[in-house]
Amino acid sequence: MRVLVAGAGGQLGRALVPALTARGHEPVALTREELDLGIAGAARAALDRVRPDVVVNAAGYTAVDRAETEPEAAYRANQLAVRHLVNACADAGAALCHLSTDFVFGGPPPDPAHRWQEWDEPEPHGVYAQSKRDGELEVLHGRASAYLVRTAWLYGAAGPNFVLTMCRLARRDGRLRVVRDQQGTPTWTGHLAPALARLVETRAFGVYHLTAGGETSWWGFARAIVAGVGLAVPVDPISTAEFGSPAPRPQRSVLADGAWRGLGEAPLPAWEVGLSGYLAEEGTGAVAAALAAGAAAAP
Ligand SMILES: NC(=O)c1ccc[n+]([C@@H]2O[C@H](COP(=O)([O-])OP(=O)(O)OC[C@H]3O[C@@H](n4cnc5c(N)ncnc54)[C@H](OP(=O)(O)O)[C@@H]3O)[C@@H](O)[C@H]2O)c1
Repeated sequence: MRVLVAGAGGQLGRALVPALTARGHEPVALTREELDLGIAGAARAALDRVRPDVVVNAAGYTAVDRAETEPEAAYRANQLAVRHLVNACADAGAALCHLSTDFVFGGPPPDPAHRWQEWDEPEPHGVYAQSKRDGELEVLHGRASAYLVRTAWLYGAAGPNFVLTMCRLARRDGRLRVVRDQQGTPTWTGHLAPALARLVETRAFGVYHLTAGGETSWWGFARAIVAGVGLAVPVDPISTAEFGSPAPRPQRSVLADGAWRGLGEAPLPAWEVGLSGYLAEEGTGAVAAALAAGAAAAP
């Protein structure tokens, strides 16, 4: 299939091209400079030119904290751009695979071990989460045949991402303070992208949750990162309130992948396996650069 990848310069976008190629598809990767989805008419022109069978939308405004002070930019990329894309796909007869986020589940979990199901009602808190939910509604109420895929805590390629930030800060400060009272599932794009390349073959349109297996806290993830890169740095647990980020974060956004497994597909590998893969393969250069940047900034 010919697959147009929008947002091809981002973490996920970069991983999609080799994953699609490996499954025998023909990816056409367009970065923001080549296709700005926020410009009315741009998606339609690109679809007329490329004539894809499927569009994977890996584009988005992902600066969670900055969104609180830039709501217009967040909504333009995460809602209005999605509206344009949905209509362009419907008119061109192309299917759409749109990416959304675990952050739409911002409310308290019904029980402490809850894994959010595809049919659970989202409760987005904060501008980023709300703009992503509004993008979901454009897809769900729109006319395109669509896969709506929620994923979580993504990291890949050259970032920016949590892995690289922890490497830089650990080397700079020799100690980390990381939030322990938020649970989720770190997911390597190197594991997500092949699953998406498979999903778009199915024509089983609907909502999917696709993350790595297992769960941890940001603190647990940070500990695994410093151990993985061989740094003997203490990682102190702190609370969400102590950290005090501008945007609210879900207390627990672990996702259940029942719809994906219902297709007869295997779950994605555990998050620890993803981290090892990233550190050993795709992330090697970016991690080395982050460690060097931290060392250069050390007091
Ligand atoms: N990162 C996470 O932890 C996470 C977690 C769950 C879900 N997701 C979702 O997964 C998707 C991919 O995330 P990611 O981490 O790969 O994001 P990313 O690295 O921030 O990449 C997003 C890409 O979209 C581009 N973009 C922004 N606005 C655009 C527009 N109007 N038209 C075209 N391209 C535009 C960005 O370009 P510029 O850099 O030039 O702005 C960037 O290249 C997003 O939908 C995100 O919401 C991400």
